[in-house]
Amino acid sequence: MSTIAESLRLVQGAVSRPEARLLLAFALGKPKEFLIAHPEAEVSGAALEVFARAAAQARAGVPIPYITGVQEFWGRPFKVTPDTLIPRPDTETLIEEALAILKDKPTSRVLDLGTGSGCIAVTLALEYPAARVCACDVSPAALAVAQDNAAHLGAAVDFVESNWFSAFAGRTFDLIVSNPPYIEEGDAHLAALAHEPISALTSGADGLNDIRILARDAGIHLAPGGFILVEHGYNQGESAANIFRSAGFSEVHTVHDLGGNPRVCAARRLP
Ligand SMILES: C[S@@+](CC[C@H](N)C(=O)[O-])C[C@H]1O[C@@H](n2cnc3c(N)ncnc32)[C@H](O)[C@@H]1O
Repeated sequence: MSTIAESLRLVQGAVSRPEARLLLAFALGKPKEFLIAHPEAEVSGAALEVFARAAAQARAGVPIPYITGVQEFWGRPFKVTPDTLIPRPDTETLIEEALAILKDKPTSRVLDLGTGSGCIAVTLALEYPAARVCACDVSPAALAVAQDNAAHLGAAVDFVESNWFSAFAGRTFDLIVSNPPYIEEGDAHLAALAHEPISALTSGADGLNDIRILARDAGIHLAPGGFILVEHGYNQGESAANIFRSAGFSEVHTVHDLGGNPRVCAARRLP
């Protein structure tokens, strides 16, 4: 038996202290705040074994959320698996924009394209329960995780397997949101994302193939005056805006994330 403080010291140098805390909390089945409040509490041999294995995985480069199975997004815990992208804080920029739009029209019909863990759709449905939120993904495995998250968090979301708009013929929405794949194939950053599903990450040579498809097809699925919000890479602001302008959208503008990077393209179908 060792205490929490001693256990954390065992992995010093292998993983950072906040990471060690998350992993030990996972091994103990306790919230991480418990570790801070009770450094003298004892850790059983079984929990220590789980902790050591988790720390070894983290040291080998497995992202912490894939070890613990959870990532926080907009203050809520989302289950993640290697079939889903790990939700990123950058995507909260898209949520802020979407909430500002829903504030004026809380009963909107909303579509989240490429829902992954369901973090966007579930968050919007929980923040605006009167909105009718639909979400799709081309990956049935990701959809199963998103469905679990909606059930666990108590969100009413209609999940549909679909290649972008293919399952939505004849349907229109007031707000379409998406965090599509947008990394360039061959981008050096991909090496650091080796554990995440490649189909959630890359989109052609310039990373913009999927954004082009969304801009091409969104018009007929947006109600007049409806909005579309699409997340993109930090260096794709101008390109994404030009794609939406060329596709005939109005009020096209770029929203920046908290780091000041261009992050979301917002556009509107003419009323
Ligand atoms: C960058 S991830 C975003 C996941 C989630 N929305 C988030 O923000 O964490 C992109 C998602 O789009 C999905 N996707 C990729 N191609 C698709 C397609 N053709 N149709 C529908 N979804 C697609 C992937 O499976 C993945 O879940």
